[in-house]
Amino acid sequence: MPQKVRKAVFPVGGLGTRFLPATKAMPKEMLPVVDKPLIQYAVEEALAAGIEEIIFVTGRGKAAIEDFFDHSFELRQVLGERGKDAELRAIDIPVLEPGRITYTRQQHPMGLGHAVWCARELVGNEPFAILLADDLVMADEPCLKQMVSVYEETGGNVVAVVDVPHEHTNRYGILDVASDQGRLAEVRGMVEKPDPEDAPSTLSIIGRYILLPEIFDYLSEKKVGSGGEIQITDSMARMIGSAPFHGLRFQGRRFDCGDKIGFFEANVAFALARSDLKDQIQGVVNQYAASTVE
Ligand code: UTP
Repeated sequence: MPQKVRKAVFPVGGLGTRFLPATKAMPKEMLPVVDKPLIQYAVEEALAAGIEEIIFVTGRGKAAIEDFFDHSFELRQVLGERGKDAELRAIDIPVLEPGRITYTRQQHPMGLGHAVWCARELVGNEPFAILLADDLVMADEPCLKQMVSVYEETGGNVVAVVDVPHEHTNRYGILDVASDQGRLAEVRGMVEKPDPEDAPSTLSIIGRYILLPEIFDYLSEKKVGSGGEIQITDSMARMIGSAPFHGLRFQGRRFDCGDKIGFFEANVAFALARSDLKDQIQGVVNQYAASTVE
């Protein structure tokens, strides 16, 4: 049995420029889908996958995330006094015991690879997960849990993947596949944001990774890649061959909530999945679908 995946890194140091002006004074990861912030969905997914320690890589203006994952004594007291039981349950979010949740700061947002490298001392020499909260996954079995099962089968690196339209390969990290068994694709290469004519496949990596600690050897070289940023894809590509590396076509649906359209779609999909909101939201959607928008 390979070493257990106990730790998860949440890089939340990005600027979130696609959501300005909202992100001028609040972290993108605190944007709510229906009524829950993106980061809460991601943390709950990690805990459901057996993660025991959480590491946030934060940046300027991200203090709200720290406050969110703490007790809120005043609010709890006021809600209790007013008999607001449902609201009390709503703020009952996962608060890990002290020492199992840590924060480190990425002083300059130099890219996702750099953000993950900032967590190297906290991760140490063991396999770990990375979750990008702006990729929200709706699934019966949490996406990271599905990935942990693959890691336990293979003992190697695992990334979650989805097929994207050929013309969209230049937005994502794309796999070069050695063999494809449907659910699992064995990886022989990967490239960040290739032009469609150069893309080795249409399998794109989403914001869920299980990686072996050797990734830090490559990230520490701080090589700048696509977009002038330190990309995690470039370091992952260099690990191929030294340990198994697979892409998992997970069961479930991914919403790219770093983008306005994906964020809007996630709100509709998650609201429609809620028994208390479904009928009203369906009515609103139907109403807009029926009207001609100028
Ligand atoms: P994005 O590529 O979505 O960048 O980062 P961003 O800055 O958050 O958003 P835009 O593109 O300006 O709108 C993907 C993930 O990596 C984190 C982000 O917080 C997000 O979770 N990230 C990115 C960092 O933690 N540090 C970085 O330097 C870059």
